Amino acid sequence: MFLFIIMHDFKYKDNQLYCEGIKIQDLVNRFGSPLYVYSYNTLIDHFLKLKIAFGEIEPLICYSVKANSNLAILKAVVDKGAGLDIVSGGELFYALKANCPPDRIVYASVGKTEKEIEEAIKRKILFFNVESLPELQSIQRIAKKLKKIVNIAIRINPDIEPMTHKYITTGKLTNKFGIDFDTASKIFLQRSKFPNLNICGIHIHIGSQIIDSRPFVCALKKISNYIEFLKKNNIRIEYLNIGGGLGIIYNKEKPQTAKSFALSILPLLKNFDGKLILEPGRFIVGNAGILVTKILYIKTTPLKKFIIVDAGMNDLIRPALYGAYHQISPLNKKNKKGPLQKVDVVGPICESADFFAKDRLLPQLEEGEYLAIFGAGAYGFSMSSNYNGRLKPPEVLVKGKVAKLIRRRQNYFDLIREQI
Ligand code: LLP
Repeated sequence: MFLFIIMHDFKYKDNQLYCEGIKIQDLVNRFGSPLYVYSYNTLIDHFLKLKIAFGEIEPLICYSVKANSNLAILKAVVDKGAGLDIVSGGELFYALKANCPPDRIVYASVGKTEKEIEEAIKRKILFFNVESLPELQSIQRIAKKLKKIVNIAIRINPDIEPMTHKYITTGKLTNKFGIDFDTASKIFLQRSKFPNLNICGIHIHIGSQIIDSRPFVCALKKISNYIEFLKKNNIRIEYLNIGGGLGIIYNKEKPQTAKSFALSILPLLKNFDGKLILEPGRFIVGNAGILVTKILYIKTTPLKKFIIVDAGMNDLIRPALYGAYHQISPLNKKNKKGPLQKVDVVGPICESADFFAKDRLLPQLEEGEYLAIFGAGAYGFSMSSNYNGRLKPPEVLVKGKVAKLIRRRQNYFDLIREQI
């Protein structure tokens, strides 16, 4: 049977898909297609779920800007007390524009440039998550030049298999991320060599879309033993940043809830007396957004039936890049009782990777009707591009019965704006 998915605040009423109190068809009529639609309530609900689950130790939850960096989204979570996890000068710019207090900003990335480091120091962010010895030396040099003392968390690569897609696995020693334990120990034990750095934190981020708590627990066991080792050497860790990576439901996954995640993590932090930081992205925004797209043509070939839509891999690249599964269903499910048909849902782009679904069972569809692609809130718009001269879609944020345009659709002049 074809299942119409109920995604948090995206629900059917009288066969029409709604986001909170607004019929999505009305949004399409107003703003056109393709269109990203976000639910404020779902966004905040997910943030609060984590906040409450870890409530007893009052962590700083730094929402990961890369998941969705629209300023309205950033402002919404910052207003609820979130900090931000950034990875570039551009994301620092977004964070400051969203009025995030700098002492709630943490900065990771294996390739921070001198200019980016200097800006972040001047803005007095909470700390850098440092990913290599040469980077540490670079931050020391710049901090000295600026006559500043800078907080540092060492990103440790704990060599853990997170059981997720290989492109989003980040905590194995074959990955470019973080520093191995031996090198980290050398850094901690010789920290006096870095007089402008307060090396006071540990960071891990082992991967993304991790649906089982076990890899987190394994990593954290290694880290808590390591913190004990440091303690014996009179090194106190003030900040423990356990990264992001919590998986969400795209299809039939059964990811850990915020509560069960907290229950498996908190016992491992019993002896830790510093501040816990989390960096979730997808968990907060993933299921708070959909991509709406119009069916342009239905093309039947000797072997296939293609549903050709007006969104492409430039709007949502996850299926093309990771073979990711996103549920798809029509905005209007009236008269969808007939047999299901096996189809490929594809975009207009000149690449065979330009698909949203392959051999998917969907109800009978018609040209001109609209589809919702679910789970598009995280790594959807933020990974979009102008490939094939395509205009990036608008974004709308719904709160109750109010819909606000939070990014307009691009126009052709946007495509050539930077060209000389
Ligand atoms: N912290 C660090 C250091 C990260 O690198 C990331 C994500 C996060 C936090 C947030 O991870 P999350 O909670 O969202 O899993 N484009 C891919 C995901 C790439 C994740 C990159 N790093 C996708 O669409 O699946």
